[in-house]
Amino acid sequence: MTDTVLETAPLAIDETAADRLFRHARSTSLWTDAEIPDARLEAAWDLAKLGPTAMNTLPLRMLIVRTPEAKQRLIEHMGGGNKAKVDAAPVSLVLAADPAFHEHLDELFPVYPGVREQLAPATAVREEMARKNALLQAGYLVVALRAAGLAAGPMDGMETDGIDREFFAESGWRSLMVVNVGEADGEGAPHPRNKRLDLEQVSRIL
Ligand SMILES: Cc1cc2nc3c(=O)[nH]c(=O)nc-3n(C[C@H](O)[C@H](O)[C@H](O)COP(=O)(O)O)c2cc1C
Repeated sequence: MTDTVLETAPLAIDETAADRLFRHARSTSLWTDAEIPDARLEAAWDLAKLGPTAMNTLPLRMLIVRTPEAKQRLIEHMGGGNKAKVDAAPVSLVLAADPAFHEHLDELFPVYPGVREQLAPATAVREEMARKNALLQAGYLVVALRAAGLAAGPMDGMETDGIDREFFAESGWRSLMVVNVGEADGEGAPHPRNKRLDLEQVSRIL
């Protein structure tokens, strides 16, 4: 791409999409009353699931917390101000990593026959892979929720061991963060956006 093209067309998506996905999207804590049916979460997931993971492992799992009873069980394990944020959100997703992701690899990564059996005894490797790739998928999910017209409020101020005992004793999933989801009321956040670092501050060019 020439410099001239870069100056006139730096993005491959239109400005409205860039605003929705990034420039105007906030980590949201102020919500409208709009209900969020599963179909809207599914629309977001159908984009997020396409984001790349190592060996197509897709280790992200999520618990969709909607009812007041389930919300109370979750709030017990949230830290300080995050309790009220879960309470206020139309729906809260507990994002987790599944160390047993390898059980799907015959289907998800058929180009590497036998990888499921190879990974089965390698518990520490699977735990590391699950955490790293599920965190990546959490990032994809936040952007995908925005693409589906939703707002996201990610939070990791919580007691993960307690959440795992409360919700994941049988599945063995490991909680990573909670993402509140709904439609943003106004800008969605009570304070202005904080500054970000520029490319020259975060990179070294060799
Ligand atoms: C992994 C992660 C953990 C976070 N944990 C919390 C949290 O525990 N409580 C909270 O109120 N906000 C939390 N945040 C929100 C961040 O503070 C927020 O994303 C950041 O300040 C950028 O805000 P903006 O998207 O509105 O610009 C978290 C965000 C991420 C991505």
